[in-house]
Amino acid sequence: MHIAIFGANGRTGSLLTGRALAAGHTVSALVREPKKFPYAARCRVVEGSVFDPAAISATLRDTDAVFSALGAHSPFKKEDVLERAMPLITAAMEQYGPSRLIALGSAGALPNSLDKQASWRRWIVQKIVYNVFLKYPVASQIFQYAILSHSNLDWTMVMPPMLTGGPAKGHYRIDPDALPHNGSSISRSDVADFMMLQLTNSQWIKKGVYITW
Ligand SMILES: NC(=O)c1ccc[n+]([C@@H]2O[C@H](COP(=O)([O-])OP(=O)(O)OC[C@H]3O[C@@H](n4cnc5c(N)ncnc54)[C@H](OP(=O)(O)O)[C@@H]3O)[C@@H](O)[C@H]2O)c1
Repeated sequence: MHIAIFGANGRTGSLLTGRALAAGHTVSALVREPKKFPYAARCRVVEGSVFDPAAISATLRDTDAVFSALGAHSPFKKEDVLERAMPLITAAMEQYGPSRLIALGSAGALPNSLDKQASWRRWIVQKIVYNVFLKYPVASQIFQYAILSHSNLDWTMVMPPMLTGGPAKGHYRIDPDALPHNGSSISRSDVADFMMLQLTNSQWIKKGVYITW
């Protein structure tokens, strides 16, 4: 396949890029600083911002599926990366294709995400973590879910809790309804592996799916 990757030079995006190339796919990567992109020589690199419709179109050209692993630099600032980027990406995909989009989201994106947690934990995570400390990324992910679920695309939003930089364990819990009980973290490596599997799996099309250790 030829895969477009937005956020290809980020922590999850670079794992996706490496895995896609290792699996024999070709990759179009939109990156702001190609000199800092370790896979530049092996990808079709589009230099630019995801806020630029022309750069998005150039990245999507002749691709079969799309990964997005976009995010803000700081969880404590209102950067509106997803608010600005996802309407442009989904509109371009609806117009020119491809239709398959596998996007990295977060467990805070939906109101029922904590339904399988103990009530004390639900209260702390919702009232303190989501509503206070992570209010900007959570708002961005709520927005992303709304955009994807109103699109005509074959989208999947992968929704982990806290991401870590460690290795893949190769086993994790997934659930379409809510974050599994006591789920609190998962490595970007396991998330990237799960996102790769979605290239050939239709089970979670037009759905959000929670993933956690
Ligand atoms: N951290 C957590 O614990 C956690 C938990 C759950 C979900 N998430 C979600 O996971 C997502 C990404 O996580 P991550 O740790 O892999 O992120 P990351 O390492 O910060 O990567 C984000 C990527 O987005 C790119 N980007 C941002 N604005 C851009 C723009 N205008 N044009 C082009 N590229 C742009 C960045 O490009 P540059 O390389 O040029 O900066 C970077 O490659 C976020 O949406 C976050 O909400 C995070």
